[in-house]
Amino acid sequence: MDPNPAPYRRVIMVCTNERTTGEPACGNRCSGPILERLKIHVKEHGLRRHIRVCKTGCLDQCALGPNVVIMPDNVWLKAVSDADVDRIIADWVTPIEREVHDRGCASVAPSHVQPLDNPGNPSNPHNP
Ligand code: FES
Repeated sequence: MDPNPAPYRRVIMVCTNERTTGEPACGNRCSGPILERLKIHVKEHGLRRHIRVCKTGCLDQCALGPNVVIMPDNVWLKAVSDADVDRIIADWVTPIEREVHDRGCASVAPSHVQPLDNPGNPSNPHNP
């Protein structure tokens, strides 16, 4: 096992676990549309290289759901509703979008990604 440098600036995980037992579960409380709205926003704003939105299984906070976790910030949001999606975007997506658009994609890429014009990059076709 080897450590892997973080490929994304931020990961937003939405619990979509469902239950048929009647016990609380995020997926039974409409977390699916929350996940889809976040995914669509990230895709439509060209942020898929920088922000990963994914569904997750149970986070053991079922009674508090729908639950959303944002990493590496370690922010746990409970009782998230469709009405909260705009706030999630404003607080955790838009700041990265601004960096990407203000500085250009290359300057906000993860540090382990070297642009091709980096003279130290052996992948640079201009290197001897
Ligand atoms: S079902 Fe979402 S935290 Fe358990």
